[in-house]
Amino acid sequence: MPAAPARLVVLVSGAGTNLQALLDACQDPAYGAQVVAVGADRDGVEGLARAERAGVPTFVLRVADFATREEWDRALAARVADHDPDLVVLAGFMKLVGPAYLSVLGGRTVNTHPALSPSFPGMQGPRDALDYGVKVTGATLFVVDAGVDTGAIVAQTVVPVEDDDTVATLHERIKVAERAMLVTTVGRMAREGFRLEGRRVRLGR
Ligand code: GAR
Repeated sequence: MPAAPARLVVLVSGAGTNLQALLDACQDPAYGAQVVAVGADRDGVEGLARAERAGVPTFVLRVADFATREEWDRALAARVADHDPDLVVLAGFMKLVGPAYLSVLGGRTVNTHPALSPSFPGMQGPRDALDYGVKVTGATLFVVDAGVDTGAIVAQTVVPVEDDDTVATLHERIKVAERAMLVTTVGRMAREGFRLEGRRVRLGR
């Protein structure tokens, strides 16, 4: 008997092309995972529409609807945990999760960041890389911790920076590589499991 597919909850804030790549991969039973819910911190984003088209339940928790950031963080943890995820994927989720979230879901939440960590953390990875003048950049999948894009690295992918790049062309090149990395790595995490040894992430049991 094949093991049950790993349960993925994906959190998004925008276009959701990384989510779409995961939804597409999950069509194949051999991928070993299914997206059981998609959450967002804002209404009306394409990522939610992608989930709805795929028949995946969605939820929205807006920070502005809570008295404090801590209450939002607790509510987010509870709502995600309701879906009993094996792995939570932050895929273009533009909020930092806090201590309450991490106390429940730390160690099984990964985030994809459009830069090669530890360079260029934060909200503007492609812009910061372009401004710095690096010749290569990429994307990093990491296990979320309390810092800003500081967690243990699961996978990285590299793309060139071209002389005529704008932030948009560079980010688009990163996203093509990022989606492939995300699908490959999340699939392996789902099928093979993973463990943390200090800062080093080992795939497999
Ligand atoms: C991705 O490039 C992701 O790495 C980035 O937002 C994009 C989302 O694209 N995330 C961050 O910058 C988080 N700090 P998508 O909505 O099309 O998947």
